[in-house]
Amino acid sequence: METLTVSLGSRSYPIFIGSGISKDAEAFLPFLSMPKVAVVSNSVVAPLYLEKFKGTLRGAGVDVLDIVLPDGEKFKDWQTLNKIFDALVGTSCERSTTLIALGGGVVGDMTGFAAACYQRGAPFIQVPTTLLAQVDSSVGGKTAINHPLGKNMIGAFYQPKVVFADTDYLASLPQRELSAGLAEVIKYGLIRDLPFLDWIEANLSGLLEKDQSLLEHAILRSCVNKAEVVGADEKELGVRAILNLGHTFGHAIETGVGYGKWLHGEAVAAGTVMALELSRKLGWIDPVELERVKDLFQRAGLPTRGPDFGCARYLELMQHDKKVVNAKLRLVLLKKIGEAVLCDDVLLTDVSQAIDACIGCE
Ligand code: NAD
Ligand code: GLY
Repeated sequence: METLTVSLGSRSYPIFIGSGISKDAEAFLPFLSMPKVAVVSNSVVAPLYLEKFKGTLRGAGVDVLDIVLPDGEKFKDWQTLNKIFDALVGTSCERSTTLIALGGGVVGDMTGFAAACYQRGAPFIQVPTTLLAQVDSSVGGKTAINHPLGKNMIGAFYQPKVVFADTDYLASLPQRELSAGLAEVIKYGLIRDLPFLDWIEANLSGLLEKDQSLLEHAILRSCVNKAEVVGADEKELGVRAILNLGHTFGHAIETGVGYGKWLHGEAVAAGTVMALELSRKLGWIDPVELERVKDLFQRAGLPTRGPDFGCARYLELMQHDKKVVNAKLRLVLLKKIGEAVLCDDVLLTDVSQAIDACIGCE
């Protein structure tokens, strides 16, 4: 098992990474304020893992309530969030009940937001079951639901007490979801860790074959990068924004086509190519480097072009990005591969041309 820490003073917490680590109930006990938890999962993950997980906790004397949400990005909304509150209030859960998210990023983001709000703040634990959630969404305390006009527009910064990234869950993950997770893994290499990018390129086949030790290394390096950035800027006042490489374009794709049609990681991959095309236009990266990244995404089973719903619609949707300040777009671009930069003075004509160059059929 690998252990690292997200250093946030009194709100610091560990991330445990390894095979089978969520089957050890004793490991959870130090993080519970009282022996009562509400496990939030969804209709895909619950039939696979919920009973076993509940059994583990009950075996250690923990009282377990379960809450099963419908599956999918399109349910990351108020009505579904309210199901969590209905269950908590309906069973008289106290503020010290720990909410545990057992699922991918959607379950994790919603459970975290519910915990932030329930009785003004209940403790919560992340047990991420997708690669994307293990390398990104379970760490750092961003919690949210979507608004019909924009991704993750309603939410809170609220840190978990601990993250258990149990790699055994990845055995049942569909290949398309594995690829989506790799988009965020590749992101860390692009924004701040060139040696990691080289490692991903060299080990991609093994990662796609779900080699356990390679996956564990990819999760560890991703979490090390994320923990360092979050530790430096928890509330995204500055450097944390680099974790959003490709996301301003990507969120526009997810909202533009309708939540759930493009996976988050797929939209991030196509959005990253747009950001890199813009970085190339600005003379920061050269065409060979752009091709290198596109090739890596393609090998990972990810798209390198976005859907064509018109450049104007992209720009409209991008105005709902949380990085917009005084109606001005702020974009994460690359000065070079391995070095991200935040730009708020890019010409809209350049942004439009970059979008136009990267939409339509592959
Ligand atoms: P997801 O939660 O929808 O999971 C993907 C699919 O895999 C779902 O159908 C899910 O039920 C299923 N699944 C989950 N675990 C499984 C398993 N072990 N075996 C088989 N199927 C399994 O999507 P995701 O990619 O995990 O997360 C995407 C979400 O995360 C988006 O809403 C995105 O906005 C959010 N996100 C948040 C952050 C953050 O910092 N909070 C960062 C990145 C992404
Ligand atoms: N996924 C972006 C962040 O956590 O900041």
